[in-house]
Amino acid sequence: MDLTKLTAVQRRLIKKNYKICVVGAGHVGLVSAACFSELGYRVICVDNDKKKIKSLKEKTLPFYEPGLDSIVIKNINRGNLVFTSALPQSVKKSDVIFIVVGTPPLPDGSADLTSIENVARVIAKNLNSYKLIVEKSTVPVQTGSKVKETICRYRKNNTEFDIASNPEFLREGKAIYDFFHPDRIVIGVEYERAEKILKSLYSSIKAPIVVTDINTSELIKHASNSFLATKISFINAVAHICDLAGANVKKVALGMGLDKRIGKDFLDAGLGYGGFCFPKDLEAFIYISKKLGYIFGLIQEVKSINDQQKKYFVEKIKEHLWVLKNKKIAILGLSFKPDTDDMRFAPSIDIVNLLVNEGAHLKLYDPQANNAAKKILRNKKITFAKNAYDAVRNCDCICVLTEWEEFKKLDFSKIKKIMHYPLLADGRNMFDKKQIEVLGFKYIGIGT
Ligand code: UDX
Repeated sequence: MDLTKLTAVQRRLIKKNYKICVVGAGHVGLVSAACFSELGYRVICVDNDKKKIKSLKEKTLPFYEPGLDSIVIKNINRGNLVFTSALPQSVKKSDVIFIVVGTPPLPDGSADLTSIENVARVIAKNLNSYKLIVEKSTVPVQTGSKVKETICRYRKNNTEFDIASNPEFLREGKAIYDFFHPDRIVIGVEYERAEKILKSLYSSIKAPIVVTDINTSELIKHASNSFLATKISFINAVAHICDLAGANVKKVALGMGLDKRIGKDFLDAGLGYGGFCFPKDLEAFIYISKKLGYIFGLIQEVKSINDQQKKYFVEKIKEHLWVLKNKKIAILGLSFKPDTDDMRFAPSIDIVNLLVNEGAHLKLYDPQANNAAKKILRNKKITFAKNAYDAVRNCDCICVLTEWEEFKKLDFSKIKKIMHYPLLADGRNMFDKKQIEVLGFKYIGIGT
């Protein structure tokens, strides 16, 4: 087969006349579908959750992501974006298919690739013309070759197709900005024709493009997230030493971060990382490395420092309040980070459970995640508040677990008057210790 020769369909693809199918309307899938449609492509977004598709058709989004609703509504209205649960028909109608289904963690830490396999089989059975199949879900290295094998096994004839890897680096809360202004676009391909299609697909986005083989591209994603998590655990470990030695981790991070080789991002000490990406990706990276024959002890330690961080915070509160039984504690911030209502693997879950197990009574408040949290955090010792002032009334301690901008604007003089005991445990180092202490508060930070 002469792979340098392009068929009519491939030529059409390179001329940007794509029909894109995005399989999976989760955070990355929906953002990608919406942003591709915003770039002018015709996009079919498929999800097997019929309820989700019904509400998307009615222009209701399944999660909160700043700016996403207006892009979705605009592109539904101009006919560039459609939602459906019919995967076979969508495959037949599309030229480029992005697989963006979930790869949740299994109990042993490995990624559950069942949904990827299912989608690959449906694609195979409906392969009616050349298609470029792109894995965008975060997957362990060597998944691309498994997807290729699966499609070859189940396709009915010899219709050509290519596999590519194009990992996503979107941050929740900043996903739209990240899609249009990425630091880099990573493309893992086997053949030049797939590279050409993907490059033209992203041609209106200004960013360096890293072209690699598929295994390397898959590895870039796991290595990037693991490295970012390493920076976080590193600074959290340094924060412990700062606490012991009477130093200030914020200044240590500043002094380190100004060195361009280190960089200042991801050096905020606090309660550690959460969210749906880092915890599961680290587990999966540890698992796949071991399977390949390498024990990734460094990443195991990163994970263990992250797990300890929440216990460390609760221990610090206990040092001040002594017995936590029947103490009233206000929790400000529940989502794993600001600007999202995502509670998946949020540090707040462990901290709330640790405090409840100690017998404390908790009043919780998050600007966006109260509803999501109510489904996870259920206990007779837990109540939810409508706002921060309602949460802190009569409490013995305020725990700030997520650095929402709204909390910076709180009137702490007013808060001190309505609290029972003025203790502020700042799990995100978002307040200035001296300014808070001047108001008469006791202040607990992480390494400050
Ligand atoms: C992350 C990656 O950034 C993104 O590239 C990837 O594709 C998906 O996972 P996201 O999960 O949205 O994105 O969160 P991110 O903004 O990266 O933060 C991750 C976690 O690290 C949060 O819990 C955050 O609070 C924590 N964090 C971040 C710190 O504790 N300290 C820091 O300095 C930075």
